[in-house]
Amino acid sequence: MKKLIIINGPNLNLLGKREPDIYGSLTFTEFLNKIKPKYPNVQLDYYQSNIEGELIDKLQEVGFSYDGIILNAAAYTHTSIGIGDAIKAIETPVIEVHISNTFSREEFRHQSYISPNAKGVILGFGLQSYELAIQSFL
Ligand code: DQA
Repeated sequence: MKKLIIINGPNLNLLGKREPDIYGSLTFTEFLNKIKPKYPNVQLDYYQSNIEGELIDKLQEVGFSYDGIILNAAAYTHTSIGIGDAIKAIETPVIEVHISNTFSREEFRHQSYISPNAKGVILGFGLQSYELAIQSFL
C-alpha cells in the first residue's frame, strides 16, 4: 500500500465556485470521491490550509514517512521561501502540481519556489494534474 498525500494551499478550498473558467466547477471532495476507487492500493490522504505555516507543519509531519507528496501550494508557490526550504528538508519526494498553466498567465505566476526542490512538475491539465501526479508515484 503506497502512502500518498495531496496538500493544497490557499483558496483551493473554494474549488467549484472559485473562478470556474480557470479552475473548473468540481469541488475537490467530488474530485477525490471520483478518483479514489481507481487506486485501491493507494492510501490517499488529503490536507488543505490557507495558512503558510500550517502547510510547512504538514510537510514536516508527513515528509519522513509517506511515499509521495502531491503539492499545490497555490499562491504560496510564487512567494514562499519557507515552503521551498521545507521541501528541501524532508525526505519524501514532492510533485508540484497546478490546475492552470501558470506560464500562460500573469508574469508573477512564472516564479516558483517549489520547482527547484520538486521531483517533478505537472501543470495545466485541470484537476487531472493531480491524477497524473498520483500515477507518477505508482
Ligand atoms: C494555482 C496557480 C496559482 O498561481 C494560483 O495562485 C492558485 C492556483 C493552480 O492550481 O493553477 O491559487 O496553483
